[in-house]
Amino acid sequence: MNEVKKIKNKWQPSSWRDFPIKQVPKYNDEQALKSVEAQLHSLPPLIFAGEVEHLKTAMASAVTGDAFILQGGDCAESFNNYSADSIRDTFKLFLQMAVVLIYASHCPVIKIGRMAGQFAKPRSDDFENKDGVKLPSYRGDIINHIEFDEHKRIPNPHNMLSAYHQSSGTLNLLRAFSKGGFSDLHRLRDWNLEFIASDPSYQNYATLANRINDCLGFMQACGVTSSLPQISETDFYTSHEALLLNYEEALTRKSSLDNKWYDCSAHMLWVGERTRNSDGAHLEFLRGIENPVGAKIGPSIDIDELMRLIDILNPGNIPGKLTLIARMGQDKISDALPAIVRRVTQEGRHVIWSCDPMHGNTIKAQNGYKTRKVESIFAEVKQFFAIVPSEGAHVGGIHFEMTGQNVTECIGGGKQLTEHHLSERYFTHCDPRLNAHQALELAFMIGDLLTEHRASSGGVS
Ligand code: PEP
Ligand code: CO
Repeated sequence: MNEVKKIKNKWQPSSWRDFPIKQVPKYNDEQALKSVEAQLHSLPPLIFAGEVEHLKTAMASAVTGDAFILQGGDCAESFNNYSADSIRDTFKLFLQMAVVLIYASHCPVIKIGRMAGQFAKPRSDDFENKDGVKLPSYRGDIINHIEFDEHKRIPNPHNMLSAYHQSSGTLNLLRAFSKGGFSDLHRLRDWNLEFIASDPSYQNYATLANRINDCLGFMQACGVTSSLPQISETDFYTSHEALLLNYEEALTRKSSLDNKWYDCSAHMLWVGERTRNSDGAHLEFLRGIENPVGAKIGPSIDIDELMRLIDILNPGNIPGKLTLIARMGQDKISDALPAIVRRVTQEGRHVIWSCDPMHGNTIKAQNGYKTRKVESIFAEVKQFFAIVPSEGAHVGGIHFEMTGQNVTECIGGGKQLTEHHLSERYFTHCDPRLNAHQALELAFMIGDLLTEHRASSGGVS
């Protein structure tokens, strides 16, 4: 048995430390780092193991096309843009999109936010150059500061505590919105975001809301009580990229329910395209936790490497445990994805196939802004919906970078945003997000694809 395998056999929350690691900061002050890790370790978990098991069971239905996963939120949450309004608006957008997708697919939609912990960012370059000055890249607020300043770019371990406390506040509000009456289906006309009212996607939404309202009235007349939790509440889960393993390790706790390890920083965690190598620290960490996990897969992935990843992350082949999030790009998906889905399906692996149509479609506008075109995003989704069923698997979900705020970061969509609009409200700390108009519009387009699939096969795909 070689050294790596020997270590792998003994998983511990800290065993990732014996493996090569990519994309993490080098902290200068070891003492400060240790002290922060110890403090995090003593803080309460953010989520509960029972919720994670609930989610995993729900997600198992997405393997067979009997549920659809809507995962989305900021590319990078930030300390500056933290407000109750922005959490509420993204939550409202989730509820609206979910209604559209449920209506179209006739199956449950599992809502998973890139929220309450999505702070650490992998970067293509370790350094950023500006006017002849070279500084370490910004790696998310949990690590360093976005301002191009020598001192502020130094990784600060105390940011992990700020990220924890902000996540705790966000999660508290999300739980209140989910269970406290805000999500009641009778209120679906109130989820409207003001700035969207003049948009065609909103007119579609208003029509749909009226139809659902009629159905609720009909059900009430038939004696189906409107206080049922299925109608008055919703389940909302959190997720982020498990990149900064010092933070993840400190929040990994043994559950009193089953004596197993759960990463209690979020319900679901995923590994990014740049850190998913099978011999690295990130897979070592993720293999030991009970949470459902995702892996981003880009067009250059080697299929044998992918099979190793599946073996590591889901050795028991448990449906719902592993989501493969394809982020191929509209020009590459048709070449890359079919063989991947075919092999995984032929080998009998139970995975959820989700589509991230954002990260393979990032472009640089003439004026220097990083952006994405709504039409490229939709073009990738459409191909995904054709390829996955044709290779014998089911479409399981979608993964978006989006916000309920009225930003101008992606171009196209009903409002026909162009490159010239990008400078108006470009607030993202990392990648460009869909605004509420664009995201809702895409939900309707995906709804049409789901309806077509339902009509042709009696299921999602
Ligand atoms: C992300 O989801 O923000 C991200 C960095 O994705 P990927 O790992 O797919 O590039
Ligand atoms: Co991103």
